[in-house]
Amino acid sequence: MKDQASSLRELVQEKNEYNGPQAVPPAAQPPSVVAVSPEGEPQTVVSTYKRVFRPTIRTRARVIAITSGKGGVGKTNLTVNLAIAMGKIGRRVMIVDADLGMANVDVVLGTVSKHHLLHLLQPEVNLEDVLIHGPFGVNYISGGSAIERAVDFTPQERQCLMDKLTACETMADIVLVDTGAGLGRNVLDFILAADEVILVTTPEPTALTDAYAVMKAYSMHSEKKDLKIVVNRVYDEEESNEVVMKLRRTSEKFLSMSLTSLGMIYEDRSVMNAVKRQSPLLAAYPDAMAARCIEAVAKNILYGGDHEIRLGWRGFLQKLLNFS
Ligand SMILES: Nc1ncnc2c1ncn2[C@@H]1O[C@H](COP(=O)(O)OP(=O)(O)OP(=O)(O)O)[C@@H](O)[C@H]1O
Ligand SMILES: [Mg+2]
Repeated sequence: MKDQASSLRELVQEKNEYNGPQAVPPAAQPPSVVAVSPEGEPQTVVSTYKRVFRPTIRTRARVIAITSGKGGVGKTNLTVNLAIAMGKIGRRVMIVDADLGMANVDVVLGTVSKHHLLHLLQPEVNLEDVLIHGPFGVNYISGGSAIERAVDFTPQERQCLMDKLTACETMADIVLVDTGAGLGRNVLDFILAADEVILVTTPEPTALTDAYAVMKAYSMHSEKKDLKIVVNRVYDEEESNEVVMKLRRTSEKFLSMSLTSLGMIYEDRSVMNAVKRQSPLLAAYPDAMAARCIEAVAKNILYGGDHEIRLGWRGFLQKLLNFS
């Protein structure tokens, strides 16, 4: 019988070459699945993404952490452009830059933040001072570099952050949390506090083994047994399908955890060019293949299946700040 290690070895060994670039645009097919509306009502989304949900007063925001095992696989670009894609279809989105070592949402979004989360501990600094109003209606809060872990805050500091940050909930339908890579305690804290987690990987063997390590840690510590995955920098759809299939098989067999694919993003030079221009891909090159892929991923998140808001933003803060 195969053990976990040999299965994982197989997983990284089987895929060792690309089939070469193919200029095929992504098939952004709308899902014909039962989705859950923002109000929590199941509804069938049949043939179009253009469905408009009835406006309602939301009480809780969807908090989605975007993480990876290996660094540099495209989390920040995905986060920023997902936010813009969702903003374009009417969702209010807020980004939290929780990559505490190398916060760089600023760079990709083309904004400059004077303040970050920790400034909120100063009595004269309020949420409005920390919140950046980025392009396309996307709001953004910088976690700042080298922030301490929440456990290191005094109870008064935690309460202060909680009080000032709670109001974000009224400003956003969706909060995207861009985490650092790997299994640092900080990263785990963020992904365990979020209701949903998107794991980003590329098809590279090293990225896959690191992705598996995150899956394993998540399955050990999380009450939820479900992760979502996006495969970035692929050359064709088959390559992405193989990655998902192998990771899913390993996940189901050894971790008893399901893995839901949200789609793939093509290798596309426009991503790098947009970063160079310090403009989000969806603004600089809206027709690029990678941009269209990200729009398809955004639609999958919004309409393509079940999601449950368990903790929401307030619960996320409570968990992160160690309130019981
Ligand atoms: N689909 C893509 N096609 C081509 N290049 C890409 C793609 N996605 C990302 N890249 C390249 O990878 C670089 C790193 O991306 P990004 O900063 O989003 O990764 P990250 O996972 O957030 O990194 P870190 O772990 O350091 O935070 C980008 O600047 C870009 O050059
Ligand atoms: Mg990043």
